[in-house]
Amino acid sequence: MKSTKARAHPNIALVKYWGKRDSERILPYQSNFSLTLAPLEVTTTVELGAGATSVELNGKEAVGQERARVVALVEAVGREAGRALGPVRVVSRGNFPMAAGLASSAAGFAALARATRAAAGLPDDVRATSRLARTGSGSASRSVQGGFCTWHRGSRPDGEDSFATQDFTEAHWPELRLLACVVSSLVKDVSSRDGMQSTVETSPYYPAWVKDAEAEVPRAREAVRKRDLASLGALAERNAWRMHATALAADPPLCYLRPATLAVLLELPRARAKGCPVFFTLDAGPNPVLLTTLEHVARVEALAREAGASDVVRCAPGGDACLLPEPLF
Ligand code: PMV
Repeated sequence: MKSTKARAHPNIALVKYWGKRDSERILPYQSNFSLTLAPLEVTTTVELGAGATSVELNGKEAVGQERARVVALVEAVGREAGRALGPVRVVSRGNFPMAAGLASSAAGFAALARATRAAAGLPDDVRATSRLARTGSGSASRSVQGGFCTWHRGSRPDGEDSFATQDFTEAHWPELRLLACVVSSLVKDVSSRDGMQSTVETSPYYPAWVKDAEAEVPRAREAVRKRDLASLGALAERNAWRMHATALAADPPLCYLRPATLAVLLELPRARAKGCPVFFTLDAGPNPVLLTTLEHVARVEALAREAGASDVVRCAPGGDACLLPEPLF
């Protein structure tokens, strides 16, 4: 019996992915851009030759679609390796609370892809790993490498050219800080998966979103290259607003914001006017993630708590998904 363990960090999109042109293969309509986040991480162990297939996520046996996606990823690795991998035992654990509002699925599928390919004896290949992680959860394609990554939309129907590449390592901008603010830990009514599908199908603003987001990716990269927080922050904010505007225009409308979300966001221009560089991004949920630099972290955390955040998780640029020596079990 052979078991292989890998670790990956989640990531936060600064230019969001919102909408699939192929839901089976998980191919996006537009390219997108993200930062990998430490110290949050998911560790996944894959054991080939187990008695029966089992998938355990954070101490609970996975069922339904969650389990099916893990099994499909393992089968895809078997096809690439040219042999069925047989029953497999997968155990995955995250070190951060779901309430942080950061998707553990991105880190989970990136770690699963890395570990399964290694367990099957396939060579280390970041593009192949990113493509594979993508089939579990789109944003997972961006957690295979650390630092700043672009997930290229690609144009091939088979998705072979749709994977993430690293633009800058985590060492490029070490003083950058991201604060995940919890304003609501309720499970959202509409998942990202369903929300983006409904937006594609019913929002009249969707084509404009696709065009704009694609054009923002090189601008985001340039702001990161220059370590220009004011430009990157302004870009991240308008991109988040545009994603939410597109979703609000869906039928029925999709509103992921809560009053407490706005209470935090509306403080930011005031803080900036007082000389504190702080900007937000917002995924398909109520919990904002604030961008600032190391020297302003304490002030930004205090601001978020005063505005109503019940918890604040401090993050910094994280590194590549990697194999770990000891198995979990
Ligand atoms: O990869 P998914 O299915 O979890 O979708 C992620 C969608 C957003 O988080 C809203 C945006 C993004 O690019 O991460």
